[in-house]
Amino acid sequence: MMASMPDSHIHVLDHALVAHHLTVVRDRTTPSPLFRASLAQLATMISVSATADLALRDLKIETPIRSFVGKRLRQRIGLVPILRAGVGMVEAVLKLIPTAEVWHLGLYRDESTAEPVHYYSKLPPRQAVDVALILDPMLATGGSACMACQSLTDWGVTEIRLLSVIAAPEGIQKVTSEFSGVRIFTCAVDERLNDEKFIVPGLGDAGDRLFNTV
Ligand code: PRP
Repeated sequence: MMASMPDSHIHVLDHALVAHHLTVVRDRTTPSPLFRASLAQLATMISVSATADLALRDLKIETPIRSFVGKRLRQRIGLVPILRAGVGMVEAVLKLIPTAEVWHLGLYRDESTAEPVHYYSKLPPRQAVDVALILDPMLATGGSACMACQSLTDWGVTEIRLLSVIAAPEGIQKVTSEFSGVRIFTCAVDERLNDEKFIVPGLGDAGDRLFNTV
């Protein structure tokens, strides 16, 4: 399901259903309800890959037949959706990890500079989790992802994984050079950014397409 690129910090999903749903979200004729549905399916598949090696602890239980030593998640997990587009990934990941906490970060790109602007943060006052999964469908320049990583690092999170649907080489380069411990899980590494800093071929503006605000 997953093909790692030479840099072990980048994990690109390789799966027929990923290719199918990725094409749905890239297609400019896909209406919002179908965009939302396919984005959620992609979020499920990305999160399965991104959490495959989470730490486990043994737990002795009783099955209806006999006792058994099984496994449970050992670490506390936080989901960090970047508003707005990351919201489209939250429910799918929460279905897989119902005990996760959700911390919203509000960032938008200034249209003229493409620099991220911070406008909202709902990190709880205490350092609540061990692993943070940043949810954002698009990694373009990497400015937003780096700002999110910085907030989480400043706050005390030691393990950060970035879950995106599509990523530009420029964004991957920025995140991996500034945050060498962050692992990126994505469905596709696209060609490049255009002059407006949009991913090419990309999928347009995920937030607008998700919430039908085009
Ligand atoms: C988009 C996207 C990322 C960011 C990526 O958000 O969802 O958060 O841009 O760009 P970057 O890697 O260059 O920082 P946008 O600013 O469009 O906000 P929105 O989700 O509210 O539409």
